[in-house]
Amino acid sequence: MYSRIAGTGSYLPKKVLTNADIEKIVDTTDEWIQTRTGIKSRHVAAAHETTSSMAIEASRRALEMAGATPADVDFIAVGTTTPDVLFPNVGTIVQTALGIHDTPAFSVETACSGFVYALSIADKFLRCGESQCALVIGSECLSRIVDWKDRGTCVLFGDGAGAVVLRPAEQPGIVTTLLSADGKYRALLNYPYGVSSGFEKLRAGKPAAIVMKGNEVFKVAVNTLSRLVDQTLAKGGVDQSQIDWLVPHQANLRIIQAAARKLALPMERVVVTVTEHGNTSAASIPLALDTAIRDGRIRRGQMLLLETFGGGFTWGSALVRF
Ligand code: UT7
Repeated sequence: MYSRIAGTGSYLPKKVLTNADIEKIVDTTDEWIQTRTGIKSRHVAAAHETTSSMAIEASRRALEMAGATPADVDFIAVGTTTPDVLFPNVGTIVQTALGIHDTPAFSVETACSGFVYALSIADKFLRCGESQCALVIGSECLSRIVDWKDRGTCVLFGDGAGAVVLRPAEQPGIVTTLLSADGKYRALLNYPYGVSSGFEKLRAGKPAAIVMKGNEVFKVAVNTLSRLVDQTLAKGGVDQSQIDWLVPHQANLRIIQAAARKLALPMERVVVTVTEHGNTSAASIPLALDTAIRDGRIRRGQMLLLETFGGGFTWGSALVRF
């Protein structure tokens, strides 16, 4: 028994913030942002939008493409760094909004790797026969935890959601997934304000925001993703020549280009959405996937390599026969 992607969906807030808009907020230029990151614009959630409201919309669209109804769903996993509240978890909020009852529903907190972690977990539930229809979501409202005075980070991030529906299949589907992490890099990228730690700063009204040593993260990301590509191909028993599309986490165009070079894939075979979406953390891969499926680039039967790297550090990949 395997699992396969039966449908995808995504949601982006209407409000678009261009680099020209950001030039008015911090000391930066469109030229710097595009040269260093590839980003031209990003979507930003309106005050009434939340991680769960975007996840719900993306899920509805994924279910529709899969020809499934909420009543079919028996498993919900959400990757998110920016849950609406600590609990109830985003999975249960999505569950209730879609009228689903009595299923597992949870969030995975592995930053940008959240979707790939959730996908890997859901795949295992389908493979062992415990799920027949899993909803796997990545959704983020990062604009709420960005310091809009810090030009080193505020130019990078965006909001949005993506979702996939997994169904059982006799052939893979999800060929293999690989998950990993190394907590020793904590200081390079974190959001150090929480419940049992860092809460006193929040209570004191001190500004809370993502902390990142960008160029150090960059180097570890490129090296780790290079290793991850080799490990994933070996684990899946797939040659790099068999990859039709690289669907990477969308953090920085230069990181994506390095991964493409490693696979000897021309950029025409790489799904790039960082230009218009910015870095949407756990939402970036399902957003990119849905974009390229709906515009007809990714077709049934093609082999996809999904790879991600994020805070923790966490990283992961999936080889997918679409
Ligand atoms: O998704 C999770 C994982 N996150 C990532 O993968 C992010 C990885 N890191 C990156 O994408 C890049 O490191 C950044 C885009 C964040 C930064 O690019 P960089 O080429 O590594 O630049 P840098 O941090 O080394 O900074 C170079 C210069 C500095 O000025 P000096 O010290 O050389 O005078 C910065 O102060 O660029 C300056 N700078 C800016 N200038 C204009 C930093 N941010 C900006 C800005 N506009 N927004």
